[in-house]
Amino acid sequence: MKVLGIETSCDDTAAAVAENTTGVLASVVGVQKVHEAYGGVVPELASREHLHKIHSVYAECMERAGLRPEDLDGIAVTCGPGLIGSLLVGLSFAKGLSYSTGLPFVGVNHVEAHLFSFLPGDLPCPYPFVGLVASGGHTEMVHVRGFEDYKVMGSTIDDAAGEAFDKVGVLLGLTYPAGAALDDLANYGDPEAVSLPGVKLKNAGPYDLSFSGLKTAVRRRIESREGRMTRRDRADVAASFRRRVVEDLVEKLFAATRDAGVRRVLLAGGVSRNTLLREAARREGERAGVDVVIPEAFYCSDNAAMVACLGSIKLRRGARSSFALDAFATMGDLA
Ligand code: KG4
Ligand code: ZN
Repeated sequence: MKVLGIETSCDDTAAAVAENTTGVLASVVGVQKVHEAYGGVVPELASREHLHKIHSVYAECMERAGLRPEDLDGIAVTCGPGLIGSLLVGLSFAKGLSYSTGLPFVGVNHVEAHLFSFLPGDLPCPYPFVGLVASGGHTEMVHVRGFEDYKVMGSTIDDAAGEAFDKVGVLLGLTYPAGAALDDLANYGDPEAVSLPGVKLKNAGPYDLSFSGLKTAVRRRIESREGRMTRRDRADVAASFRRRVVEDLVEKLFAATRDAGVRRVLLAGGVSRNTLLREAARREGERAGVDVVIPEAFYCSDNAAMVACLGSIKLRRGARSSFALDAFATMGDLA
């Protein structure tokens, strides 16, 4: 079964074709550069960029896959959570394609799709496992007990992990989205150099996370230096911040895994590209006897292959969406 995936939940316009769950025939991601100047995603600009790009991204994907619409068996599209204006572009495109071709379509949850990210060997992660989905918009720890059998064990109570990387990166003079550049800068710094406050969460679950206090501490530190920071000073701040975020994520992810009684974790979402997070999770996995599964960097970030992969399973199980399918901004009912 060949399924086209469409993803437009935030600022990446993406299309991919997956063959069952076992192969990506093509995957195209159109990155939007327009937001760089604003230090964050501007929702209206994101929707307009999706409108400009969606057809050419789709056409390039089909060309690379060597397919015509009639070669497809179905369409999967992200219908939430995300920016409503952005989601509506992908959703309307998928509905139009479904209407004109007669192909069935199914709406999928973006966070759920990250849990179906393709791994080396082109297979999704076998369940049961605990997945960490950490990106610019989400930070969720999900116990995946089986197909459509999820328990969200923890999530951020304020900023998403990637949002914290982006905001701290911009404070350090890096260009938005700043996660990857901060990761590079941190490699030149001393993670012990700057002491950052511990995070104490009130009224939160054991696996919930918070990043806004850390971001404020970094801002104060930078302001106290009144702009007199060398590259080395900035690298020290980056390294100290990165270490704190990674320690917190890894500690809570493995505690949740112990609690869930499973022996496999999956890292997904753009923050899973972080070099220290990948290394620290692998080290902890070896120590704890837990299998640590991490997609290649390309499949950590937003892409449509994960949407096509999840969609193909849903379609094969008979799921169909109607043309009345709505878009939703928040988590929906992932459980
Ligand atoms: O999953 P993604 O592509 O899009 C969504 O936000 O859903 O994730 C993008 C996020 C951005 O916040 C970006 O700064 C962050 O992932 N990111 C990283 C790294 N590469 C990307 N954060 C930390 N270290 C990285 N190497
Ligand atoms: Zn995402």
